[in-house]
Amino acid sequence: MKLALTTLFLIAVAAAAVAQTPESSLPAGPGKDVFEAKCSTCHGPGRVLIYRRTKAQWASTVSAMEEKGLMVSAAESEQIVAYLTATLPADPEPPAPAPAPAP
Ligand code: HEC
Repeated sequence: MKLALTTLFLIAVAAAAVAQTPESSLPAGPGKDVFEAKCSTCHGPGRVLIYRRTKAQWASTVSAMEEKGLMVSAAESEQIVAYLTATLPADPEPPAPAPAPAP
């Protein structure tokens, strides 16, 4: 009986430890590691996560950061823009018009 209680206690402790493991608040997705590595040096990611932008707007944000001293390759810049566009999109664009019916 004592052993069973001890086992239960250990399980509870382990579960609590797992629940408390700190996790990055950044949403998962392709490009997240590049974004974290490149965009967290001058300011935290929190400076970025408050915005919602279109792909073109994120691309110009990254260019603006390059002017401030960000060093990224073209490939990295693309990955960051893709990650930001997927995780922090602007309001959905209106749906494309339906194709004209065939005559
Ligand atoms: C070399 C330093 C540096 C790096 C690296 C950097 N930033 Fe910035 N960023 C700044 C500074 C300085 C400001 C504040 C000045 C301002 O608000 O114009 C800023 C402000 C911002 C803002 C708020 C202003 C705005 O454009 O609306 C956003 C969003 C942003 N950064 C995104 C990014 C992203 C995304 C990356 C990675 C691609 C990045 N930053 C990397 C220096 C940097």
